[in-house]
This record gives sequence, C-alpha cells and structure tokens, in this order.
Amino acid sequence: MRDFKYYTPTEVVFGKDSEEALPGLLGKYGAHKVLIHFGGGSAVRSGLIPGIEEKLASAGIPYVELGGVVPNPHLSLVHEGIELCKKEGVDFILAVGGGSVIDSSKGIAYGLAYDGDVWDFFDGKATPGGSVPVGVVLTIPASGSEMSDSCVLTNTERGQKRGCNSDFCRPRFAIMNPERTYSLPAFQTACGVTDIMMHTMERYFSSDVGMDITDAIAEGLVRTIRVDGEALLKDPHNYELRANIMWAGSLAHNGLTGCGAAADFGTHRLEHELSTMYNVTHGAGLAAMWCHWAKYVLDVNPARFARFAEKVMDVEPAGDARETALKGIAAMHDFYVRIGMPTSIPELIGRKATEEEMATMAERCSRGKTITVGNFKVLGYREMLEVYRLANV
Ligand code: NZQ
Ligand code: ZN
Repeated sequence: MRDFKYYTPTEVVFGKDSEEALPGLLGKYGAHKVLIHFGGGSAVRSGLIPGIEEKLASAGIPYVELGGVVPNPHLSLVHEGIELCKKEGVDFILAVGGGSVIDSSKGIAYGLAYDGDVWDFFDGKATPGGSVPVGVVLTIPASGSEMSDSCVLTNTERGQKRGCNSDFCRPRFAIMNPERTYSLPAFQTACGVTDIMMHTMERYFSSDVGMDITDAIAEGLVRTIRVDGEALLKDPHNYELRANIMWAGSLAHNGLTGCGAAADFGTHRLEHELSTMYNVTHGAGLAAMWCHWAKYVLDVNPARFARFAEKVMDVEPAGDARETALKGIAAMHDFYVRIGMPTSIPELIGRKATEEEMATMAERCSRGKTITVGNFKVLGYREMLEVYRLANV
C-alpha cells in the first residue's frame, strides 16, 4: 500500500428536503453575492431554479444567473462567467446541475482567483493557487465532481478536452436530493452508472498491492452499483435505488476508493478524446472503450481481473486466472448491453472511426507523443492507437 493523503472537505446534505439547507450553507461558507450557474434548461423546467431563486431572495442573498452550460462544458462560457462575476462582484459560485455545470463553475471559480487565462491551468502553463468557493445542488449522479478535486473543460477552438486537479476546487458543500434525479432519461441514468463504476475501476486496476480495505470498499461499491443500476432502469422512480446510486457517485470519485493505490485512468483519458472528437456523452464513451482496454492490458495481471470477475461480476471461476478474467470482461460487456450502453466506437458514433481520426485522438491523448497515460499498463501513442483500433470493430 502506498502512502496517501485523504482529503474530502465537502459538506454533504443528502435527502428529500436537502435543498432547505441552501441558505444556511451559503451563509456558513461566506457567500455575499452568488452566481447561480446551470445547464440547458432541465433545472429550470423541473422548478429547481425558481425554488432556489425564491430561497435566496427570502434569505436576502443577492444573486446573478448564467445558464447554458452544455455537456462537455466549453471554456468560452467559463470566460463569460468570469467576466460576469467580476462585473457583479460575485464571491460564491452555486452549480445547479451535473458534472458539466459543476466543472464550468469550478472553471469560473479558478479564473476569479487568477490574473491570467484560466486555460493556463489546463495547458500545464500554471498551477492553481486558489479558487473562489463553489457549492453544488446536484441533479445527476455520474461525474462525482460534487466532491472531486477535478475540473474538466473543453477548448473548442483548440479541439482539446483537458482536466485540472487541485484541492482548491473541491466544493464547499453538495446538496443531494435523489428525487431530483427521477426526471433523468434512461440513457443519462445508464451513462451515470457507467461513469460511477468506472471511477472506482480506474483506481482498482492499479499495479499496487496490499490495499485490502480499499479493495473491499471498491468491490462492494462497484458490485452494488452494477446490481442497483440495472434494477433502477426497470424501476426509475425507486427512491432507495436512486439514493444509493447518488451517494455512490460521490464516494466513487472523492478519493475513498483509491486510498493507497496509484490510479490508472487510461480509459478516461482515451474517452476524453472521443468526447472531443465526436461530442459524445462521457459515460457512453467509457462503455465503448472499457472492454477493449481491459483485454489489451489483461496480461499484465490476470489475477487482478479474475478477482474482479468473481467479487464484482459474480462470475464462477473457470480454468486459470486468465479464463476467469475474460469471463468477467464478457460479463461487463453483457451488462453494458443490458443497460443500453454502446460497447464499441461504431456503436457509440454510428459508424467506424477513420484511421486518421484515431491517429488524431492518440496524438491528442499523448499530447503530441510527449506523455503516457495509465498505471496498470502504461500506454504511449502507439498503444493508445492500438486500443482505439480494437474498439473500432
Ligand atoms: O443541461 P441540462 O438541461 O441540465 O441537461 C443535462 C444534460 O443534458 C441532463 N440533466 C442533468 N440533470 C438532469 C438532467 N435531465 C433531466 N433531469 C435531471 N435531473 O443530463 C445531461 C448531462 O449532464 P452533464 O452534467 O453533462 O452530465 P455528467 O454529470 O455526466 O457530466 C459530464 C461531464 O463531467 C466530466 C465529463 O468529462 C463531462 O464533461 N467529468 C468530470 C469529472 C470531475 N470533474 O471530477 C470526472 C468525470 O470523469 C468526468 O470526466
Ligand atoms: Zn468519468
């Protein structure tokens, strides 16, 4: 087990009436003027935004609003938000939505505490030295951004989707009402389930050993979400299932399921290029890649995959570890099919990727062949291209 730091400062208020806590939390975390940041309209249509406006008005907390965050959020709106907040004297960003809205909020919050262009942090030109505080009212369990140290933005001008990690952007609070997720389309629910499982799997497939507690938590979490996620798609108004998945989304990506291990995150990095190239939904992109990545890296440690097969996928051991491992990967493939996720690039984008597109994605993922990704197996440009080709069947 590696040495590690575990830091999760986010105050979580979870449950049916959790939004009632909002004015108190804004006061507690020093908000004098708030930006309410939201997406394409679901939070307005559901009545969530009008309810929040009312609460802030009653509590005498001034606010301005900026909607229009798109999935795979754009740097351009972050720039707009920074300008608006400077002009209006905003000192607290309230994200009302999912990962895209939260990450756009984190981008604005970083930008307000920095004199240069916020993209510098995503380009590796600068490291964040602070951030304006962010709070979250979560509407979709998926990204885990409500507790994570991560912010992922898309620079459409440069064709780049990049992440920036620092503890400064961990939200001060997260309000999570599972009832707010009843309105999610089945596809978004399934993408969320896939992403949540993947955040833990990316940490589980590590070259490190001896993380018994972390492994037990990870296996329990992924197994539970697999079972509950499939049940939820048949029973979308089941409060307990919604609640368990919502809480798992936060735990899967706040660091808990990776304590003591160096994470892989290779599938995520490969997926971010799919999102950039084809503007696909993150969770669907992950499902399209994972089984191909898994078969490609399996021989590094078949026993790890065999353990995953037995403890997470409920697969009976068969033959040697490699055989059991392959059964586990096949079981994950079948799970994706049952929850309506794509399992290849053609299923994801409706056609085969061209050789040129795959080379571009590998080039971008390796930042012009200068970096590698992954830990369980390190992938350079050539290996990235190979995994894209395997997924392009
Ligand atoms: O825009 P609106 O109208 O709100 O619609 C959204 C959007 O179309 C809709 N939605 C959200 N809540 C809803 C709802 N529709 C009905 N009812 C509700 N209650 O769902 C769609 C997807 O929303 P989005 O925020 O894009 O989803 P998600 O939470 O999956 O976030 C995806 C983004 O997060 C990044 C991804 O790369 C992607 O850009 N990630 C961020 C991470 C982080 N910061 O820690 C980690 C992840 O690995 C991921 O990379
Ligand atoms: Zn993810």
